[in-house]
Amino acid sequence: MTSDQRPIGVFDSGIGGLSVLQALQTELPNERFVYLADNAHAPYGEKSESFIRQRTHTIADYLLAQHHIKALVVACNTATAAAIHELRARHPALPLVGLEPALKPALTLSRTRRIGVMATRGTVASDKFARLLASVQSEAHFEVQACNGLALAIEHSTLPDRAVTAQAQIAQLLHNYTQAMGRFGAESSEIDTLVLGCTHYVFVEKDLRQLLGPHVQLVSTGEPVARQTHRLLAAAQLLNPQAPHGAAQPVRLVTTGDLQGLQAAAQRWLGLPPEVCVAVPALLR
Ligand code: DGL
Repeated sequence: MTSDQRPIGVFDSGIGGLSVLQALQTELPNERFVYLADNAHAPYGEKSESFIRQRTHTIADYLLAQHHIKALVVACNTATAAAIHELRARHPALPLVGLEPALKPALTLSRTRRIGVMATRGTVASDKFARLLASVQSEAHFEVQACNGLALAIEHSTLPDRAVTAQAQIAQLLHNYTQAMGRFGAESSEIDTLVLGCTHYVFVEKDLRQLLGPHVQLVSTGEPVARQTHRLLAAAQLLNPQAPHGAAQPVRLVTTGDLQGLQAAAQRWLGLPPEVCVAVPALLR
């Protein structure tokens, strides 16, 4: 396989990064992707930074050794905050793209200058997020909410035996967390822009829209990250000039956890058939 045809690695603690994979596939239709969902260890947002760093290194090493990836997208705000610096130091030649909550893009959209941010506890507590917030705080009021339990409920919402309970939990958590942030709307005292600072939350956008009404803008990072990946690959001359063909699947999804859950999520959100998903229990350790 020439270097151009090697896949791009994408990973998340679970199914949240599928929202980024979707944007990557649209932006880079000629590329092959291998997506690693560390479902067995989700949620990352409520684990220690050292645990997340260790998982990130294990996964990057696995994707490089077993799938010969040519670039890596860390489709997880929490893992980016905890591990991207170390990851860059360990793999200086690997094009790497991380995610951070879209505070800067939100600034360009907000008229009321009141911006809500939903993210995991790990992201909100990280030094990286503190620096990001400090860099924009003089320009608007940011209401930051750590959303314990939400990513896990979204993970469970794709499992047939847990879906109903998970959906009720999601509704309750969204209600509680948005209430805690304050009033939403287009009036000057209201939050008019909400940053989805965790890739899982993109899958509850519809529920949020219903809850917050038509005047609130929701901001996520999938598309800008896909464009950034495109730019990096082009600069490194690693773009695949031709669409993948033959027996090679353009996308492969790998889970450390429940195969059926990943298959259901891939089918529901990306329209992918179950056979593109495989389990790698050996990566559990
Ligand atoms: N999807 C991840 C993020 O963007 C992490 C969710 C979790 O595992 O807590 O932060």
